[in-house]
Amino acid sequence: MAPKTSPEVGGMGHSVRRKEDPRFIRGKGTYVDDVVLPGMLYLDIVRSPFAHAKIKKIDAAKATAIPGVLAVITGQDLAKYNLHWMPTLMSDTQMVLPVEKVMYQAQEVAAVLATSRYAAADGAAAVLVEYEPLPVIVDPKKALEPGAPVLRTDKKDKKDNHIWHWEWGNRAETDRLFTEAEVTVKQDIYIPRIHVASIETCGCIAHFDKVNDKLTVWMTTQAPHAIRTVFALVAGHVGLSEQNIRIISPDIGGGFGGKVPVYPGYVIAVAASVLTGKPVKWIEDRMENLQADSFARDYHITAELAAKKDGTLTALRIKTLADHGYTDAAANPSKFPAGLFHVCTGSYDLKAAHVEVDGAYTNKPPGGIAYRCSFRVTEAVHTIERMADLMAHQLGMDPAEFRMKNFVKPEQFPYKSALGWEYDSGNYAGALRKAMDTIGYADLRREQAEKRKRGELMGIGISSFTEIVGAGPSKHFDILGLKMFDSCEIRIHPTGKAIARFGTKSQGQGHETTYAQILAEELGIPAADIRVEEGDTDTAPYGLGTYASRSTPVAGAAAAIAARKIQDKARKIAAHLLEAAEEDLVWETGKFSVKGAPNRSKTIQEIAFAAYTNHPQGLEAGLEAVSYYDPPNLTYPFGSYICVVDVDKGTGEVKVRRFVAIDDCGNIINPMIVQGQVHGGLTMGLAPALLEEISYDEIGNIQGGSFIDYLLPTAVETPKWETGHTVTPSPHHPLGAKGVGESATVGAPAAIANAVVDALWHLGVRHIDIPITPPKVWRLLREKGVTE
Ligand code: CDP
Repeated sequence: MAPKTSPEVGGMGHSVRRKEDPRFIRGKGTYVDDVVLPGMLYLDIVRSPFAHAKIKKIDAAKATAIPGVLAVITGQDLAKYNLHWMPTLMSDTQMVLPVEKVMYQAQEVAAVLATSRYAAADGAAAVLVEYEPLPVIVDPKKALEPGAPVLRTDKKDKKDNHIWHWEWGNRAETDRLFTEAEVTVKQDIYIPRIHVASIETCGCIAHFDKVNDKLTVWMTTQAPHAIRTVFALVAGHVGLSEQNIRIISPDIGGGFGGKVPVYPGYVIAVAASVLTGKPVKWIEDRMENLQADSFARDYHITAELAAKKDGTLTALRIKTLADHGYTDAAANPSKFPAGLFHVCTGSYDLKAAHVEVDGAYTNKPPGGIAYRCSFRVTEAVHTIERMADLMAHQLGMDPAEFRMKNFVKPEQFPYKSALGWEYDSGNYAGALRKAMDTIGYADLRREQAEKRKRGELMGIGISSFTEIVGAGPSKHFDILGLKMFDSCEIRIHPTGKAIARFGTKSQGQGHETTYAQILAEELGIPAADIRVEEGDTDTAPYGLGTYASRSTPVAGAAAAIAARKIQDKARKIAAHLLEAAEEDLVWETGKFSVKGAPNRSKTIQEIAFAAYTNHPQGLEAGLEAVSYYDPPNLTYPFGSYICVVDVDKGTGEVKVRRFVAIDDCGNIINPMIVQGQVHGGLTMGLAPALLEEISYDEIGNIQGGSFIDYLLPTAVETPKWETGHTVTPSPHHPLGAKGVGESATVGAPAAIANAVVDALWHLGVRHIDIPITPPKVWRLLREKGVTE
């Protein structure tokens, strides 16, 4: 669709260059670690080498003797203020610093405050901690066995390691359909623990100004307002009151869900600043970030799919064990302990489904964050897309034909899924058809057949995913009781330029550009004339922040609604200026003119000037508006990805030869930014599919705790992504837009895994858990007698 506005105005559909890039590419961004305050102190953290151990003694003498070290802070110190525990976003509890025992390797044990970062680090190395090791549980299945040692001894009545049981769907009907089913498939699927590896690690500078009683925290957070409220609720008793707390999220170098939780380091820095009255900086190093911050995934899934012989799907049944580490610190909406996992019926029209999830405590770091995915959607998509392929192969059907047969059809929207979600819009067959045409699917299948005859291993994998983003309608979505609306406030200045502030916070997604484009579209003010600000709780309207691709569906909608309020007032001013009745005015982007007399018109800039110099009597001066947008529904972006792999028989190496991604995020604000989001997302989907995993040995030692063995994809491993899109607008979003930031990360792993299994199916391989590493494949090939 051609853009409605000119390139000079730069509304929706223009690939406007990112406003933020000039500062980023010149190295002039302001990240937390760039902030330096006079008299600033530095914090470093002592971490546990044990995964489970009693703390017998902390000896700080050697540390405090180091020049520049001012204090060693322990759990006992924080306990005096009742700040040694804090609530998690899932209403569990998490230690800030331990008093009795540590629960995972790399857990915070004590903090060292010093006049320089180096002195703080030397101090941390000099703190002597005496531990008494305790039995360690790393396997959630073992954690739930009768007689397993109870890990959360701090919870008086806790008799086991079970956190919660959650189920959704129609069990009886699902069971019935399975009993009747002509064909069923069943598969255990493990989606391993992985970790966000943003360019910038987490950190903060806490500055408590004792004179003005004001706490300012520069912080790597994706949700500054929610953090301010949590700080006020948790530390109100020590005098931190919400009007005196200011959270500033400056430039953020990638969040991906990892910068939603409150980490102990933030709280210790705040406590240290309140006690000393000095600014305190805490910045994690890379290994601390990988080893101790919130993890993602770690779902042990058993899935079953039922179908008729002709390939019509009927039912889905899933049981999942969720390993949450030692506390449930997932960042899910309160009502959904397993996030939005129950979008697991995916793009398929099923008659019934039932999902059960059990959470378990283990001796691992907490988390369960939505790593570039809208709360467990990656887990859901991976499961249904693997299962769809398994069923297609089992039936001897082509996986594309099988999907086409079972897709929810365009005329079925709005579509109520078997698990109760109301999908807003979609054309799944359209996206798959486009992906097949782009990649030349039929030719590839022919090539595969020929290669197979020659003994070469080539596979084609499809993932036709449905995402669910834009949390969320307040009747269902809150975090710690805070409803998940979002906001935009616009002020138009007398010269027709504007500032707009939002409750969200970009971490690289380009909000300064795309929000300005939304306003340009609605008001006709050039995007270049609109300044967008986010991330300062003293100035921005309250919002729940940026994660789960919610910015466009929620704050983007708030921008459109606030702009329309401005337009309403502008109409009154224009009527006054043109001496015409309001209803006789016609709005064309950027100006009002009198019906039938197009020459009699006033531009938005003239109207803005009049709002301050010549406003009608009885109407307030100024031109500004605010919207707190509570979405009526989520948005359901979707896509079809097709991946071609070649598997090396000698080494087990998987090479992604081609990857076509057709995405649909409804109406597009900035095509270039959307393409960038998809490219980045695909690379982040390739990562867990082939490379990334964090695991633990039996005594809880982390494997994958540094970039030596936590393998990020580089340019060498990353294929040339071939992207495209279809456009199916959301009927309920004011701009018809859906989110897109996470689609590719959610959709890509299954396409790659399906391609590898497709390459090996004829050898009897039915499933491979991700990451599909060369040793894993090589072992399989050896088992099947293909390689020596
Ligand atoms: O919440 P987050 O910003 O991570 O995700 P998003 O709403 O999916 O947006 C990611 C980026 O893509 C933003 O700059 C959006 O404005 C842009 N986008 C777009 O241009 N058109 C869409 N339909 C969706 C997102």
